[in-house]
Amino acid sequence: MKKRTLLSMAMAATMLAATFTGCGGSREGASTDTATNDTPAATEETTEVAAETTTTSEMPGFDAGATIGVSLPWLGTQNWKEAEDMFSAQLAEAGYNPIVQAADQKVTQQQQQIESMIENGAKVIVVGPVDGSQLGSVLEQAKEAGVYVIGYDRLLENTTGVDGVVQFGSVKTGELQAQALLQGLEELKGEAPYNIELFGGGPADPNAPNFFTGAMSVLQPKIDDGTLVVVSGQTDFTQCATADWDNAKAQQRMDSLLAGNYSDKDIDGVLCPNDGIARACITACENAGQDIPVVSGLDAENESVEWVWQGRQYSTVAKPTEDLVAKTIEIIDSLQAGNGMPSTDVTADNGVIEVPIYELPPVVVTKDNAKEVFANDPSRLELLK
Ligand code: BGC
Repeated sequence: MKKRTLLSMAMAATMLAATFTGCGGSREGASTDTATNDTPAATEETTEVAAETTTTSEMPGFDAGATIGVSLPWLGTQNWKEAEDMFSAQLAEAGYNPIVQAADQKVTQQQQQIESMIENGAKVIVVGPVDGSQLGSVLEQAKEAGVYVIGYDRLLENTTGVDGVVQFGSVKTGELQAQALLQGLEELKGEAPYNIELFGGGPADPNAPNFFTGAMSVLQPKIDDGTLVVVSGQTDFTQCATADWDNAKAQQRMDSLLAGNYSDKDIDGVLCPNDGIARACITACENAGQDIPVVSGLDAENESVEWVWQGRQYSTVAKPTEDLVAKTIEIIDSLQAGNGMPSTDVTADNGVIEVPIYELPPVVVTKDNAKEVFANDPSRLELLK
């Protein structure tokens, strides 16, 4: 195995600085316009526009105790479970009547859940879609019934039935994952070239191609100049995607990549789109007798925060659920009071309309900055021991 080299402090500082530059009004579109022109996610790119402020008369308020629906795609990763808990508790605390449901990755189930929220008189429906493009007609039905529709964490595509989307910058997230992968390779795996493999998330989730696009904007030049070698040759999103974000499927793919390509080679790094897939890939490498590769992740799940602290997973990206839920409830309060959707200067083309985007900045986490990132998150801070 290659010799360990020291991390350049300058590079770490630059990465951290780059991470925090995004804070407060970050616009991922501004930094990624050229990188995503020929990608499957190009239509989901956020752009800066002069947003029209919606007036009160166009968006009437509603009763302070109104029913609010929240439709989540599944509860298979920690962020969605946190969202379920936080929406249930915080909407009730704010005086609303919450209906919070998850759809177990099934499009039809989600359509039915949203229909029943409309029937139950919901004034706002918050939707994290299983499949970003499969809810068009039920959301338009909601709009016709006078319901406000807010996308949560994922874009709602090919529909006019959406008032805005609250999310973390998804192209930016991919960039951070790839930058951390490169940093970890230099820090832990000696001199280039480095052998790597690439993983993407569930193709129905509009975030997944965006994460991959952001990552490839950083990695492709390094593949082209020979710094990185994707030994399997699998570099298209369609080859690298993980159906339904299923960790077991990712582990199977990693097992077969290792068996087919690495019997006489070390694997140095793996681009992973979230923490569950990261842990699956690390486990597959351990099972194959490889040294642990440098692996990226997303969500700052408890188990991965521990793995990062132990040096088993190199990085994750924090996208705090409490911030996303707080932003969503702030918008619901604005709608309730009759103040309409808050103004924003970021939009995304969802294939039919320019959707207002309320975008929060993701933050990369490695062992070096974990204590700093989680300084105000006692439960994660507790894991750093
Ligand atoms: C979310 C991630 C999550 C993934 C799988 C994505 O849309 O942004 O936080 O890990 O879905 O659930």
